[in-house]
Amino acid sequence: PEAVKTKIKYLEKHRGKRVRVSGWVHRLRSQGKMMFIVIRDGTGFLQVILGGKLSQIHDATLLTNEATIEIVGQLQPVPEEKSAPGGHEVLADFWKVIGHAPLGENSYLTRFNQESGPSLLADLRHLVLRGETQAAVLKLRTCLLSSFRNSLDGLDLKEVTPPCIVQTQVEGGATLFGFQYYEEKAYLTQSSQLYLETVLPALGDVYCVQESFRAETSHTRRHLSEFTHLEAELAFITFEDLMTHIEDAICNTIDHLLATPGVSELMAVLNPEFKKPTRPFMRMPYTDAIAWLVENKVQHVTEETEDLPDDQKVYVDHVVGDDIAEAAERKMTDAIGRPIFLYGFPSHLKSFYMQKMKGPEGQGPNGMAFTESCDLLMPGVGEVVGGSMRIHDADELIAAFKKQGIPSEPYYWYVDQRRYGTCEHGGYGLGVERFLAWIANRYTVRECQLYGRWPGRATP
Ligand code: 4AD
Ligand code: MG
Repeated sequence: PEAVKTKIKYLEKHRGKRVRVSGWVHRLRSQGKMMFIVIRDGTGFLQVILGGKLSQIHDATLLTNEATIEIVGQLQPVPEEKSAPGGHEVLADFWKVIGHAPLGENSYLTRFNQESGPSLLADLRHLVLRGETQAAVLKLRTCLLSSFRNSLDGLDLKEVTPPCIVQTQVEGGATLFGFQYYEEKAYLTQSSQLYLETVLPALGDVYCVQESFRAETSHTRRHLSEFTHLEAELAFITFEDLMTHIEDAICNTIDHLLATPGVSELMAVLNPEFKKPTRPFMRMPYTDAIAWLVENKVQHVTEETEDLPDDQKVYVDHVVGDDIAEAAERKMTDAIGRPIFLYGFPSHLKSFYMQKMKGPEGQGPNGMAFTESCDLLMPGVGEVVGGSMRIHDADELIAAFKKQGIPSEPYYWYVDQRRYGTCEHGGYGLGVERFLAWIANRYTVRECQLYGRWPGRATP
């Protein structure tokens, strides 16, 4: 009889029929006169049985892991205790190899195992991707991106696509990647924030999902040279509105993600313990975080000794005005064990565009000023979101450029946003890989990109 050609995902509808399925050989096992093959096609896994004559394969190189095959046969239900993927299997009456794959010594599967170093795994990333866990992370990433979009569209933001090739900095000149752009110097964007701000008067609240690039000197498990940056910008808001919006955006995203078909299966593989955060998120002023670190004896290494060998490093208590580095931030977030909005960082630690806090709350010791800025910290990862209100007065902005020694001319279009109908506004950036590392419980963001980019790594 005719066979129905179908993807594995849709087999359910064709129980009892003769089906035709193509895919990659995922697992292979002989048992007596039978051969069991699990094939995968990206939509799912399917067990195939070759029995009788079909299982008598005299050339072992014919049917190997990762070869592509086509099979035709009867789709039959499998009793629950035998647990086959999808609750069914195909008893094949025909099969053929479409594309061969190397076997034994020649196979990448022989070249790596659990103990392989990260460098070999990165070199073979194009093949490693085929593994169940890595593929699950990437599938979850796909679902996560549509959940972000669903959440932000639902909050009435419009998606735009800002340029990657720019001539201005956002987060400090030290991490800019520069290159020759025809006759001029240009950079790869660090953040689309400035562009989003300029779109507010045209489209209202906006967001983008765009790559950002940073020549990071910190080789950590949460820093990438290229990362996917979800950024949003909102007009006519207060700092409080901004934090509430971030909470809404994140909680709606998680709700949508967990309700997406197939996601509970992925979460069962990656992070069965995951619990969605309860609202409202904890809010902690920067000065309280410094007090927490002192109280809990979390110290930081002095600048003078940070490059010395470990036994010569000097550790001291944090004081108001100090940056909270990754290690300290992580200790605090993990100890508290829930999302924290850390807000009100001193202006000298932050970028030029940040609005200062109004009133006495904004005044620190020795003339220090606190800003309307917030980082959202997640257990296991630390900073996942960075946001702030922006200086919305043109003169104040020009003064801020001067103070940080940044020539303001290239930013004429950014300043114009203040000159032609300014408003109180703010926004944030969310690192998609960090967010995914939190949701999928990955040790490093390097596993959360299709092809990760970090110092020394631009291949494949
Ligand atoms: O805190 P950041 O540097 O803030 C900005 O870029 C703002 N201009 C965003 C805005 O307000 N529109 O970066 C925002 C987030 C961080 O919280 C982090 O999650 C992620 O981007 N991020 C990185 N992720 C991976 N590797 C890196 N090198 C990252 N740098 C920032
Ligand atoms: Mg930040």
